[in-house]
Amino acid sequence: MIDQSRDGDILILTINNPPVNAFSPGVPEGLHAGLDVAEQDQSVSAVVIIGGGRTFIAGADIKTFDLPREQAPDLRGFITRLDAFPKPTVAAIHGTALGGGLEVALACTYRVALSGAQLGLPEVKLGIFPGAGGTQRLPRVVGAQKGLEMMLSGSPIGAAEGAQLGLIDELIEGKTEADLRAAAVAFARAHAATRPLPRVSERGVEGASPELFAAARAGLGKTHRGQMSPGMIVDLTEVAATRPFEEGWNAEAGLFLQAKDSPQSRGLRHIFFAERESARVPGIGKDTPLTEIRSAGVIGAGTMGGGIAMNFLNAGIPVTIVETAQDALDRGVATIRRNYENTAKKGRLSMDDVEARMALLTPTLNMNDLAQADIIIEAVFENMDVKKDIFTRLDGIAKPGAILASNTSTLDVNEIASVTSRPESVIGLHFFSPANVMKLLEIVRAEKTSASVLATSMALARKIKKVGVVVGVCDGFVGNRMVHRYGDEARKLVEEGANPQDVDGAMHALGLAMGPFEMSDMAGLDIGYSIRQHQAKVRGEPQPDGWLDRIVAQGRKGQKTQAGIYDYPDGRKPVPSAEMSDLIATYRSEKGLQSRTISPQEITERLAYSLVNEGAKILEEGIAQRAGDIDVIYIYGYGFPAYRGGPMQYADEMGLSNVAAALEKYGQTPAPLLKQLADEGKTFGAWDKEKGRG
Ligand code: 3HC
Repeated sequence: MIDQSRDGDILILTINNPPVNAFSPGVPEGLHAGLDVAEQDQSVSAVVIIGGGRTFIAGADIKTFDLPREQAPDLRGFITRLDAFPKPTVAAIHGTALGGGLEVALACTYRVALSGAQLGLPEVKLGIFPGAGGTQRLPRVVGAQKGLEMMLSGSPIGAAEGAQLGLIDELIEGKTEADLRAAAVAFARAHAATRPLPRVSERGVEGASPELFAAARAGLGKTHRGQMSPGMIVDLTEVAATRPFEEGWNAEAGLFLQAKDSPQSRGLRHIFFAERESARVPGIGKDTPLTEIRSAGVIGAGTMGGGIAMNFLNAGIPVTIVETAQDALDRGVATIRRNYENTAKKGRLSMDDVEARMALLTPTLNMNDLAQADIIIEAVFENMDVKKDIFTRLDGIAKPGAILASNTSTLDVNEIASVTSRPESVIGLHFFSPANVMKLLEIVRAEKTSASVLATSMALARKIKKVGVVVGVCDGFVGNRMVHRYGDEARKLVEEGANPQDVDGAMHALGLAMGPFEMSDMAGLDIGYSIRQHQAKVRGEPQPDGWLDRIVAQGRKGQKTQAGIYDYPDGRKPVPSAEMSDLIATYRSEKGLQSRTISPQEITERLAYSLVNEGAKILEEGIAQRAGDIDVIYIYGYGFPAYRGGPMQYADEMGLSNVAAALEKYGQTPAPLLKQLADEGKTFGAWDKEKGRG
């Protein structure tokens, strides 16, 4: 795993642990063996540590986190030795030096890097903190403020910035590992005789003050609400600034296991792997032919269509956007421009970039202008007849091989495909609003969708920086089907006596930014209302008369009318509404409903477990391939807190037998798969693994 080679008096240790040179079992052993040689061999004057292949060490091996301590690779032990090593050591960085990788580099005497390298301590994203000296060494190099910023955001910085901050001693022009190796050897030789050896652990922390730490703590409620490890990062950085290195180093070790063994860390690690796993789809492989997407068409310039178009424009893919009327088209284009200009005002885009993106957009009223598009995404009103009409026309217009996608959020993609002569080219691409912001893309595989169209759609998702998850056809697919059950349960809770704010409050406590009623108010209550009315009409039933229907009938449609389930006196912030309390109370008494006090625990369980129960049905039916896929959908599309790992992982943490028992207690029937796993004492995670999908 570790190659030793010599360039004159320099010993080079190359880590070969593809794909990302994680600090796995075997790596410390090999590195120690290298240091043994360097220590004993008088002809070695300095050591270079470099990653083979595409990167330096990308961190501790996350797969080993659940191993017993004696089997886990001893990163801290290696770093202790490195810090005290009597000869100069040089970390030669390309690709990424992340987490434990940057911690190794910080314990070396010097760090050199290719200019394209990225340096970061992303542990917070895994519910932990840098546990091998990172909280103590990084602030000693970059200062307290920058250290906090890097560790709390988890975002890497480029090597050039690293050089400015003193994190990188020499920036190396060049592209390849070989360029880096040669320059690192030269650097090591030039510094071989330097004594005393500069050690990061012997430095002080600049820019620390009680005010800085107080402000950092105060900000956590906003940036990391409900999370444990960010507070530990601030505490440990303060220790770094105020106590001797040794004390901080020990404090870090003391807290690390607490963070690593927490449900929050398990949840975040689950999502790390689930997201990568979701890219694996049976029948799709490296040999599946892909179509290159050089141009796109979007039908509909409303909120969804405009947002979808922006994704392509951002990726440099020209878009032809179609509307039926000039004023709607102009409005849509103006909204796209305004969105970009707002981003430019915030300094995140230059005005040249705005113009470059707008130049890629061709507005038209003529659908025939889509004839050359490689992919066409329909984003019009959610109505089967309208969609069928569009796909019939597209069938006559689109070039052979073009992907014909519908952005439907509920409708049957098989039925849409059936009106074309090329159902193999038809797929559902369900974007989430706002489509230029939300990371999730549900990729709906219809019965006849070809492997190539599916694989191209998955590759496209990556290109436009979305997390694409493949799902099957059913009403609402995965996300909306589950959210319907959750919405039903929320409505019932209010009928039984809960206030809307209690229901939303329980979801805040679970870590969601918005509860079900705040979400409904934001989306617009009239959408669900007209769907319910339409369904009743189709079924020949009387018009629905739930308390939510009564709200809409009063003209309270949500945020957009400044009144819905809540009042919105300032346009955005929900305020409990006395009018609504009266309406709900009247509703309960008219319907003869007994009101009772409902505990936050009951609200949380009923809402969260309604998602889980529907998720279990979705798994049984094969609509989602894995429980992990459902979790990824809920994190990226519905604001479920990543540190809970998604609803299915949350259920695993709660224990499936407890979940099944709670459902029964609340009068719901656990889905057969949930019941079976609960009876067998298993988890959804184990089920994924058993099926070879996790
Ligand atoms: N441990 C184990 N496996 C890892 C890993 C790690 N630290 N980092 C990446 N991998 C695996 C991925 O699971 C994936 O496996 P797969 O091919 O079987 O799905 C493979 O390496 C490639 O990863 P990506 O698909 O993510 O490849 P990219 O090129 O897109 O990204 C990366 C590479 C930027 C390194 C990205 O993988 C990443 O951000 N990794 C996590 C880095 C990290 O969090 N490091 C800190 C670890 S915790 C730590 O160090 C604790 C210490 O402080 C004590």
